[in-house]
Amino acid sequence: MSIISKDISKAVAILNTEELVAIPTETVYGLAGNIFSKKAIQLIFETKNRPFFNPLIVHIHSAEQLPEIVRYIPEKAKLLTDAFWPGPLTLVLPKQSTIPDIITAGKDTVAVRVPNHPMTLALLNRLDFPLAAPSANPFGSISPTTAKHVNDYFKDAIQMVLDGGPCHRGIESTIIGFKGDDPIIYRLGSTSIEAIEAIVGPIAIKNTVTEPNQSQKEHAPEAPGMLERHYAPSTVTVLVNDISEELKKHKNKRIGVLAFHSAIDHDSIAFKIIVSKRKDLLEAASKLYDALHQLDKQNLDLIIVERFPNFDLGKTINDRLQRATVQP
Ligand code: TXA
Ligand code: MG
Repeated sequence: MSIISKDISKAVAILNTEELVAIPTETVYGLAGNIFSKKAIQLIFETKNRPFFNPLIVHIHSAEQLPEIVRYIPEKAKLLTDAFWPGPLTLVLPKQSTIPDIITAGKDTVAVRVPNHPMTLALLNRLDFPLAAPSANPFGSISPTTAKHVNDYFKDAIQMVLDGGPCHRGIESTIIGFKGDDPIIYRLGSTSIEAIEAIVGPIAIKNTVTEPNQSQKEHAPEAPGMLERHYAPSTVTVLVNDISEELKKHKNKRIGVLAFHSAIDHDSIAFKIIVSKRKDLLEAASKLYDALHQLDKQNLDLIIVERFPNFDLGKTINDRLQRATVQP
């Protein structure tokens, strides 16, 4: 077991020895290390079993620190950081030469954000370096939204989980890159497209779904968060428009159900979770991954998940559910 603790000084001490600490953010827990320590960064990739072609997000304590990380800030990037930082938005921009290649998978760009969690902001303020932090889950599996999820995954493979309670947004940050000075959405996330367009106008989505293959080991996908299968429970999971219709197709199975707001009754349902009785997409997003974690622990033959309305955070939720339900 790793230590699950709220002791920020302890986290500072561990990170200063080039070891890893799992940190809370408003989106999901991250597995964090010093961006300038080769040892710590290699440990992140090893612990997660993450391929080296998949670059990491750099976490900083404030927008004022951004020029230390990137060499060019387009006007619309400035508008976005003013509107959303600290918060669930990651920008991909040309990197400073001081940012190690292992962080960016050899790319000339770096992903960076200011997380909105008081403990992690306090931690970043006490460190002499930014933190690289991918989600604290083994590569491809469901991201963790509680300290317990992290500990269930990694046990004593990491020294400490800084316990900041359940993540209140519950889905990863939205990632925005730039083509010239024009923003492009690389990964849907906890900041909705609608909220982003209110600041910078209509925005393109680069929804390149790619499976990792041999050539990508040399050429990283543009936005590797867009891998086709990701965020996946180990139980067979299907995404449907109508749960009752789907239930008719299955006999003699132990079935789990994840629904948005409406109650469903059926003899073959062994376990069900309704994520927001009041039809609130924010609440649904915050509970989504925990619901998948719970369902995955029930020894079910099948998990049936309902598709969400396709606007606002519903779009992000559907994106994750789609990737979670691609069969290996
Ligand atoms: O909410 C979040 O973003 C969480 C918390 C911990 O901050 N972090 C997170 O990290 O989701 P991770 O590693 O699971 O996802 C990072 C994504 C990956 O899809 C990666 O490929 C993409 O960011 N990324 C990183 N650097 C990039 C770059 N230079 N260009 C394009 N995509 C990049
Ligand atoms: Mg991840």
